[in-house]
Amino acid sequence: MRLNPFTGLYLTDPASMWRRILDDPDGVHYAEDLGLWLISRHAHVRRALADATTFANALTLAPVYEVCPPALNVIMQLDAPPTTAAADPPAHPRTRRALRATFANTAERVEAEYGEIVRRRVDQLVSRLAARQGDQVDLIPEFATELPLLVVLDILGVPDADIGRIRSWADGQIALIWGQPDPAEQVRLAQGLLEFWHYCEDLVRQRLDSGHRGEDFISRALDYRDDDDSVLTVPEVASLAFNLLVAGHETTAGLLAHTLDQALSAPQRWSAITADPGLVPAFVGETLRFAPAIDGWLRVTTRDVTVGAVTIPAGARCLLLIGAANRDPAAFHDPDRFDPHRADVGNHLSFGHGPHFCIGAGLARLEAGIALSRLAEAIPGLRLSPEQHRSYKPNVAFRAHRTLLAIIDVPAPAGVLAVRDGATAEVRAA
Ligand code: HEM
Repeated sequence: MRLNPFTGLYLTDPASMWRRILDDPDGVHYAEDLGLWLISRHAHVRRALADATTFANALTLAPVYEVCPPALNVIMQLDAPPTTAAADPPAHPRTRRALRATFANTAERVEAEYGEIVRRRVDQLVSRLAARQGDQVDLIPEFATELPLLVVLDILGVPDADIGRIRSWADGQIALIWGQPDPAEQVRLAQGLLEFWHYCEDLVRQRLDSGHRGEDFISRALDYRDDDDSVLTVPEVASLAFNLLVAGHETTAGLLAHTLDQALSAPQRWSAITADPGLVPAFVGETLRFAPAIDGWLRVTTRDVTVGAVTIPAGARCLLLIGAANRDPAAFHDPDRFDPHRADVGNHLSFGHGPHFCIGAGLARLEAGIALSRLAEAIPGLRLSPEQHRSYKPNVAFRAHRTLLAIIDVPAPAGVLAVRDGATAEVRAA
């Protein structure tokens, strides 16, 4: 079985690749070109995510290809200590505890602590779009990637003025780790990553030097450590910020893009949502399953391990195909059907599972829910442009749209109004 995530079908129709892998009798393959073991079945992916002793995180944030020596020299200068997604025990339980204490991660805490930020930022972007009646816009740069980045900057207490630099460093990090850049690009991206890390160290140092602490995440994490390195070190605070600035926006940007794509590509779905915003949470939930923003995630084996009928050797890098697991008929009824009211949606693995379960799941759901409701309310006639060529950025983990062109039409078209009640009933019944 060949899987080339950087070209061809996987960039336009990943689900057809997932189906082929799932249909194979083993569901586990060594992809020689990639040097990665592909694990696709729901039960196997879930088990690997849960078993941190056998499937470790040490290499989760290491490039998936052999980096050229000049780029490696730059990467070696990066002395960010592993926290959360890159950490294993004993560091992981400690840094995870710190994160849980300082970053809102339940629906109630997220609403209470970040609800106002999210609503303000959504309103700002939605009004900007609504003012462009009749224009064609690209919803990716103008909404989907902008919103989560602004929100995470507010949460971390980072100035808006730095948005451009952070966006470019974060995009670069994803391409460097999970993409396939040529050697010259590797060096450029590695230098960007090092600058990004120094920038995060500076964010922490400014608070330490000035003695000024606010309500932002970095201040909270410094308060939490209370000068005790056994709780959390200063570099670990910088490393948490470094991770959150990427994890907090590239992922949610993907969720927003997929949700809008699913909602707008079938006009009756959009009509139903505009008529009844109560449909939004279930719609977002099904989008998470059907089109996950992270559809492959990495682990490395610490021992020989048998998965299904296949033995994976110790020290092997595994790509857990979350996108495929979410389409496994053993876990989901009629898995290739987008159904916002399916009973089994809660089985999806899009936020991971077990000890590393996504800390930002509540925030991502809140952002997507508010964003979709406000857009539907303010621009009910929003529709995709006819000249749409869907494709995704080439990498093994983040399923990110390159563009999503739409026409801004503030008043709901008469046809939409006429079918609204019927469409709502249709989506409810689906
Ligand atoms: C739709 C949006 C998101 C998706 C699909 C997503 C997905 C994931 C996945 C698959 C993991 C790995 C889980 C595992 O290994 O079991 C993860 C971990 C993580 N996510 Fe998210 N995420 C999203 C949003 C966010 C947001 C908004 C934040 C923070 C602002 C965030 C912060 C993190 C962190 C810190 C981890 C590492 C947790 C740990 O290792 O203990 N994520 N996420």
